[in-house]
Amino acid sequence: MHIEKHPVLGRQLLKPVTIYFNDQPYQAYSQQSVAAALMANGIKKLGVSRKLVQSRGLFCSRGRCCSCYMTIDGEDHVRSCMTVVKDGMRIYPNMEDPEVRREIDED
Ligand code: FES
Repeated sequence: MHIEKHPVLGRQLLKPVTIYFNDQPYQAYSQQSVAAALMANGIKKLGVSRKLVQSRGLFCSRGRCCSCYMTIDGEDHVRSCMTVVKDGMRIYPNMEDPEVRREIDED
């Protein structure tokens, strides 16, 4: 699912790196965003919504919404569409937000 050679930009995918999603290794390329690298590997679900706990994935792809929040290298709520992959990066979906859910459940 990678674009190997872009008609305008030429060859962009030169340096392969390994990223880990849910502790499983995947190949990405050094200049890709986390979300693009996951999409290229067939992973479209990046987390779940806080209130309705529905699947979330890419929406704006430019850092304007919060649909692509993930936990990246130990930091929660990182916009995966705006974060460039690094070799050995550890990525987890945004599946839980216990404090917010607790507040909603108490309403
Ligand atoms: S998809 Fe909207 S901020 Fe990433």
